Amino acid sequence: MAPAQKTSATALASVYEPIAQELAETTELLKSRLRHIDPVFDRYLEYSFQLGGKRLRPALALLCGKAAGKIDNRCRLIAAALEMIHTGSLVHDDILDGAKFRRQLQTVNARWDSQRAVLIGDLLITRAFELVCECDDSHVFRTMATCCQRTVEGELYQTESVGNFQLSVDDYVKIVGGKTASLIECSTSLGAYLGTARGEELDRFARFGRTLGIAFQIVDDSLDLVGDEKVVGKTLGTDLENKKETLPLILYFQNASERERAEMLGLVESGVKAEDRASVASILKESGAIDAALGEANKLVDEALDVVAGLREKAAKEGRESALAPFDSLERLARFVVKREN
Ligand code: IPE
Ligand code: IPE
Ligand code: MG
Ligand code: MG
Repeated sequence: MAPAQKTSATALASVYEPIAQELAETTELLKSRLRHIDPVFDRYLEYSFQLGGKRLRPALALLCGKAAGKIDNRCRLIAAALEMIHTGSLVHDDILDGAKFRRQLQTVNARWDSQRAVLIGDLLITRAFELVCECDDSHVFRTMATCCQRTVEGELYQTESVGNFQLSVDDYVKIVGGKTASLIECSTSLGAYLGTARGEELDRFARFGRTLGIAFQIVDDSLDLVGDEKVVGKTLGTDLENKKETLPLILYFQNASERERAEMLGLVESGVKAEDRASVASILKESGAIDAALGEANKLVDEALDVVAGLREKAAKEGRESALAPFDSLERLARFVVKREN
């Protein structure tokens, strides 16, 4: 493990402390459901989970479940399903982005090929829906299905906007709200629902996830420009290489002079090669555009923290002592999202 990964794993271990046991059980469930399908497939599925990621989505579902009232077996099923869907979407995303490296390993498309990666991604997602069905709850099923649809829509909006360097902040939010925030919102909302939150309280858990999800992708997009591949553990620079305009560049264009705008367009219009990434990133960095994007992520995290504070106050008033530690963790997790290096 790279040093910063260790630091982030240590930081997250203490954040996940109130749900450590349930998260370990979820990981076991995940592994057991991806084993022994057929020896031909087992190696691909196990490979996709070999190193594992940050487990952010299952952790959010379990923490929100506990904060809202309880974690039952259905919450574990959903937590495992969320991670399977997430991993399936990454396997697909790496084909779209032509990425070679993920979670410190070769991507499925690089190790084998895109044909297999399409099918492995599909298998992960359809396998997840078996777990969703075991919950036997139409609200859970509908929420998951809508979330998957929005994730795909977000990736499609992004694909449609390739080469368009005139995106507005609203266009950007539409893309990332779909491709990333939907699944994070689904995690907080379904965790809370299974923990018995309803009505306005449930809406607030969903809003927390949605706001955090957009902040999470802004940070990811900044890391794609200025992150360290060894630390982040995945291929970086693919946004500019594939002519995808993200928030730092949108904000750069907003404040650039005519000349700066023309020069930057000349650099990005035909896709930035890996060897030129650092020079484009340093122009964006020096202009303050990366910090401005991270500032927007910080504002969103502050909004998310306000939502958590309101929910926490309600739990305290109701004397729900067992909810306080998970609420602390949700706050720490929200802060981690903007501080993270991977
Ligand atoms: C990566 O998600 C994809 C994005 C939505 C930016 P994570 O950063 O949560 O990936 P893992 O699960 O930790 O590998
Ligand atoms: C895609 O966003 C997120 C998904 C919905 C899979 P990115 O393309 O920025 O994610 P990374 O950087 O490859 O993880
Ligand atoms: Mg990608
Ligand atoms: Mg990215």
